[in-house]
Amino acid sequence: MHKSVYLQTYGCQMNERDSEEVLGMLTAQGYAVVEQPEEADLILLNTCSVREHAEERAFGKMGMLRELKRQKPELVLGILGCMAKAQREEVFRRLPQVDLVAGPAELYDLPMLLAEIESKRRSLVAGRWSLEQDIPSSEKMGTRTLAVGRAFRPLDLKPTGDWRREGVSAFVTIMEGCDKRCAYCIVPFTRGQEVSRPIDEIVAEVRGLVDAGYREVMLLGQNVNSYGKRFPDGNGYKGPGGRQQMLEEGGERLIDFPVLLRRIDAETGVERLRFTTSHPFDAHERLFQAMADCVSTCEQLHLPVQSGSNRMLKAMRRGYTVEEYEAKITRLRELVPEIHLSTDIIIGFPGETDDDFEMTRALMERVAYDSAFIFKYSVRPGTEAAGWIDDVPQETKEARNQELLRRQERASRTKLERWIGGTVEVLIEQRNAKGQLAGRARTSLSVVCDGDDRLIGELVMVRVERVTATTLIGDVV
Ligand code: 5AD
Ligand code: SF4
Repeated sequence: MHKSVYLQTYGCQMNERDSEEVLGMLTAQGYAVVEQPEEADLILLNTCSVREHAEERAFGKMGMLRELKRQKPELVLGILGCMAKAQREEVFRRLPQVDLVAGPAELYDLPMLLAEIESKRRSLVAGRWSLEQDIPSSEKMGTRTLAVGRAFRPLDLKPTGDWRREGVSAFVTIMEGCDKRCAYCIVPFTRGQEVSRPIDEIVAEVRGLVDAGYREVMLLGQNVNSYGKRFPDGNGYKGPGGRQQMLEEGGERLIDFPVLLRRIDAETGVERLRFTTSHPFDAHERLFQAMADCVSTCEQLHLPVQSGSNRMLKAMRRGYTVEEYEAKITRLRELVPEIHLSTDIIIGFPGETDDDFEMTRALMERVAYDSAFIFKYSVRPGTEAAGWIDDVPQETKEARNQELLRRQERASRTKLERWIGGTVEVLIEQRNAKGQLAGRARTSLSVVCDGDDRLIGELVMVRVERVTATTLIGDVV
């Protein structure tokens, strides 16, 4: 029978990539992808838990879909991703119409779980998915499927087949999970312990993408800089006692992130190599050297600082000081002068005073980021900071947020204006809504220009005529 699926994605690029793979798996099973929930037999939300706001959006959307489910009871509704893992009881309680709840580690079980629902055995999947925390027993008696219990995404158990949408730029996962314990962050709970994919497999995947015509690759992981710490083995995953390929020689890891960058650069022929996201603690001289040496690595780094106050950084358990962070930036700028730097900032973390905030403002001014994402702190249940009083009033958070947004907008604009009159190399990706060609510079800045369809997928030089708040506009030369 012909079936159709509607999928909406929240959150980060890891989630975008996961969604692409989910759609690939389902189309391989005969599903058609539709753009409107009303046309679907299966509705999936791939959710994010990083801030309360992201969760509320997904809850709201599912609430809106309740009516569809009432009109069409055979409709299957599923919550996937980080919120499915972090808020499973809450999802079951608040959304009685949901049929399936599966976390990031259960991605590859999806066809099987859907078959289970299909075969009307709509029951809790037990056994392999033993729950870390029990859900109320009345709900276990229900007809719904809850599959959130694996510690790891089995990175070595991949569905075969070509799931990528056509394009010029591809996401490649190099690791899953996060071993850091930032006091505010839910990710270690939703994505589990760090596991890295074997290096040869990643290099082969990138080579395959290049052969298939991709020109740019974005390496993905929650903390790509700690790549190589723990690898899977055939029978599951070795714990800290048995780090399979983490061979030490003269105190150095033989396989780490700079090594991966150098191998991809030397062995695949990819023209543009990007990666995200980086933790400042694990970003070192060797990374900066590799970025400077490799032709393909783009002049772009997202290095979230979170705060400009050492007192806050300590409370956040970030593991570095403002001085150490700035020294890294200085060194990186020596080695890669054109680097485009971006950051994440959390304002209103418990205990943040006016002085702490002022230090963040001052740091942003000193570093002069090309762009910055500013977030108001929100309590994430289960994290260390959830045990502390969320004592910065909402109005103060709002005022601090606005202040930083305003300043960053001005700073970004000033940096953009410096491009006027210059030329940039642009990888043309698509036509935008206005019919112009749209692509990115190596620094990841958006560029639009006029031109032929033949230029889609090509590297062209564009002379910048003017700028908007976020985009360079020019002509192909
Ligand atoms: N509250 C607000 N922002 C958060 N982030 C992570 N957890 C929280 C939270 N509890 C932000 C951090 C991180 C980005 C992805 O989200 O800045 O770098
Ligand atoms: Fe959201 Fe973090 Fe999960 Fe990505 S990994 S979807 S940002 S909670």
